[in-house]
Amino acid sequence: MKIAIIGSGGREHALAHQLSNSKKITKIYSIPGNAGTEEISLNIDLNLENFQDLHDFINKEQIELVVVGPEKPLVEGLVDFLEAKNIKVFGPRKKVAQLEGSKIFTKKICKKFNIPTAKFKICKSKEDSFVFLSSSNFPLVVKADVLAAGKGVYICKNLDEAKTAVNEIFDGKFGKTDQLLIEEFLEGDEMSFFIISDGISYKTFNTAQDHKRVGEGDTGKNTGGMGAYSPSSLINNDLEKKVLKKIIEPTLKAVNEMNEKYIGFLYAGLMIKNNEPYLIEYNVRMGDPECQTILPLIDCDLLEIINACCNSKLYTQEIKWKNKKSMCIALCSKGYPEKYNKNVEIKNLKEFKSSKDSFIFHAGTKSSENKILAVGGRVLNFVNFSNSFSTSRKEIINQIKKLNWEDGFYRSDIGHKVIDE
Ligand code: AMP
Ligand code: GLY
Repeated sequence: MKIAIIGSGGREHALAHQLSNSKKITKIYSIPGNAGTEEISLNIDLNLENFQDLHDFINKEQIELVVVGPEKPLVEGLVDFLEAKNIKVFGPRKKVAQLEGSKIFTKKICKKFNIPTAKFKICKSKEDSFVFLSSSNFPLVVKADVLAAGKGVYICKNLDEAKTAVNEIFDGKFGKTDQLLIEEFLEGDEMSFFIISDGISYKTFNTAQDHKRVGEGDTGKNTGGMGAYSPSSLINNDLEKKVLKKIIEPTLKAVNEMNEKYIGFLYAGLMIKNNEPYLIEYNVRMGDPECQTILPLIDCDLLEIINACCNSKLYTQEIKWKNKKSMCIALCSKGYPEKYNKNVEIKNLKEFKSSKDSFIFHAGTKSSENKILAVGGRVLNFVNFSNSFSTSRKEIINQIKKLNWEDGFYRSDIGHKVIDE
């Protein structure tokens, strides 16, 4: 079977790696991919915004299954476009991808179906927002109602910060908008909770914890994710039941009531307080870097599972997991998440080979004239699974030190809440 994976990050390299273990796959195309995917698949440099070109290529190569990694093409309707041309695609359609594309869309579902989430107010103008803010307690959260790669969320400690957020959002920092969301600030611990669904039934797809802040001890600016570990230490049977009954199932019911089906991965960003879950946000894809820690724990054929989802037959599959702990640490370009240099060579990388429990998934890399260059903020994901988070972290840090890339930095405290040193 020939398959294509859409995207170019660490998540997509991990997907390509896991799928390449399937005996049924004859060829993988990564569109556009990175220097890591190039070693296990054929990279094709196509513009993800040009759906017609994507379709023409997929059709010409007779690709039988397309797996969409990132949110942007999902929210823009790539699945609808390809399905209309009879191509099998794994991922949700445009209408349900609004679960990630519009925070207000999700909040309205939460309200209608009584899904536990932060109390909220939708504001339609600056004036409307300022009136509401003048009688609010702080901290609170102001959110733009667009895809903003995590940047459209402002945690505001006081009225001044909230006013700045409102002004920036309505002045078009994230594109033209006529509404925003103001939310109660939730206390607790965050957890990333995943399911996979075929539109009729669903199965849980493990949990993870990511570290979004750039600095040790979870300090400094927000990033795309400096590292993650799986499973989350917060999960237990009781909590899982609550997440499914109070959050996931009502959401899938809401999707069905729209005459839609949810096919794909669904990622619930949760706040956990006193073993009770609250929905912070939905993402309509795997998390990055959570995906890089979760996929190596799968102990069965991922292709069979994804294919079964596209054929409405997920019930035929048992998803088996290794009883191991998995960790991912991102090696980033110095300066990230602000200014950093591009096209910086990473020497010696070719000497690092994956083993059965250690992997390097590339993110912002490209190969050029037999060299591997860093072209993004998050550059490489070092992953290891073992019997303990502490062992995995030591193993990863040894590897990063061995690579000795002087233009990079990483957080050495990933998993600090679950590792006692
Ligand atoms: P989001 O893009 O909605 O996931 O928000 C990004 C991050 O902001 C989350 O991972 C949380 O750390 C934080 N956050 C968002 N909403 C809230 C909230 N209502 N209360 C506390 N923290 C929040
Ligand atoms: N790890 C956060 C995200 O994928 O959105």
